[in-house]
Amino acid sequence: MKVPLRFKSIRQRLVVLLLLAAALLSLLLFISVRAIASASVQASQDSILGAATIAIAEELRGGEEGVAIEIPYAAFSMLGSSGEDRIFYRILVGEDTVTGYGDLPMPVAELTGLEPVFYSRDYQGDPIRLAAVGRSVLVEGTPRRVQVIVGQTRTGQEMIISRMSNRAAALGMGFFFLSAVLALLTAQAVVGPVNSLAEAVGRRGPQDLRAVTRPVPEELAPLVSALNGLMARLTAALSRTETFIAEAAHHIRTPLATLRTHAEIAQRISEEQEVLARLREILRAADDSSRSAGQLLDHATVAYRTDQRAEEDLDLRAVMADVMRAAEPTAELKDLHFELSVPDGPVPIHADRLLLESAVRNLVDNAIKYSDGDDAIELRLTVDGGTATLAILDRGRGLGTMQGRDLTRRFARGSNVSDVVGSGLGLTIVREVARALSGSFRIENREGKGACAILSLPLA
Ligand SMILES: Nc1ncnc2c1ncn2[C@@H]1O[C@H](COP(=O)(O)OP(=O)(O)O)[C@@H](O)[C@H]1O
Ligand SMILES: [Mg+2]
Repeated sequence: MKVPLRFKSIRQRLVVLLLLAAALLSLLLFISVRAIASASVQASQDSILGAATIAIAEELRGGEEGVAIEIPYAAFSMLGSSGEDRIFYRILVGEDTVTGYGDLPMPVAELTGLEPVFYSRDYQGDPIRLAAVGRSVLVEGTPRRVQVIVGQTRTGQEMIISRMSNRAAALGMGFFFLSAVLALLTAQAVVGPVNSLAEAVGRRGPQDLRAVTRPVPEELAPLVSALNGLMARLTAALSRTETFIAEAAHHIRTPLATLRTHAEIAQRISEEQEVLARLREILRAADDSSRSAGQLLDHATVAYRTDQRAEEDLDLRAVMADVMRAAEPTAELKDLHFELSVPDGPVPIHADRLLLESAVRNLVDNAIKYSDGDDAIELRLTVDGGTATLAILDRGRGLGTMQGRDLTRRFARGSNVSDVVGSGLGLTIVREVARALSGSFRIENREGKGACAILSLPLA
């Protein structure tokens, strides 16, 4: 059976199909109960009608003067039990009607003895049921044929049939409602395993790529094995990505560091101005590449880690202090110093350490990079309700005319920073980390001078 596509759920489909089937069966039940009922009512009326007709026929006597007719009223009282019905009779001797209604319809079939013949006709505007018997009586020594016909209107019969039809209809309805309840239960039972599988898979964390092992019905087995295959391939791809990132980091950073060391040594032993100038260029290019490569790899790591998080309970104060300590040598080169202000108690965050450090490090790097020197870089950590807010404020050149939101796009750099090297990925990393940890990030111009970057994260 083709089901319209608008039923998007299996349960709906099932319920509709089962209800249609139930409705059809209930209708058939109703029709057959009514047919059986009217057939049996007809049969019982026929047997009374037949008996009455035979009773009358048996009372007919032949004789010398003709046929003596004595109608036994018991016959009519037998018929009269149904109340409102009218009764007609007709008795013929030969071709002549001797008593009763002369126009009462005759049977089509040949009458054979006292076996009644039944037929239905319309008479005086009403449908009637008739029974006829024929026999022979001896009149003046010769056998004469007599026929007895008795008819009865069908009001009583129809009343009984309509009462039975009502009962059949009630039965059909009851049957239908019972089937409807069963249909709902069936649909529930059929859809149950699908739902519980979907729920079990949906409940998993994003990093849970284990195979689905729960027992499922046969029909779902191909789906589950396809799902497991997909997860296995995904796991393999993710681990390849991780290996690639680690190897790329190693293979880019190590030769650059070596190049840098050799250039520095050459700088120290050379006295030629021309060579020294070239060496400075080499060092600068090596630094640029190193920084850009570092950020590209950081970005790849963040993207990878967002899917494959290794979350742990961290104290945000400690993470900040670590990043600050690592950045201190660079800050000192520009005569910058940090002012750290954190709450007294721990600030618990449930997060991937690498992601969190990467975000904070990028913000601190920017603050150092875009400050002029001799200034303070403030790191303020506050806790409010369920949120930890980390603000990094500097007194550098600020964002100029750019909007903070535009600067978080990939490779977006400010219009006022052409003299400073950078890749434009730092704030993208911060934004992605904030999103991965269900927090938020914004950067704006600070009152007076400088920039203010704010990273908010939910507390554990
Ligand atoms: N502390 C800051 N002060 C001034 N400008 C900033 C600061 N942090 C970010 N910006 C602006 O945002 C841009 C994007 O930053 P980022 O994504 O880290 O890229 P990059 O530092 O490599 O240029 C920077 O080019 C700069 O214009
Ligand atoms: Mg940056």
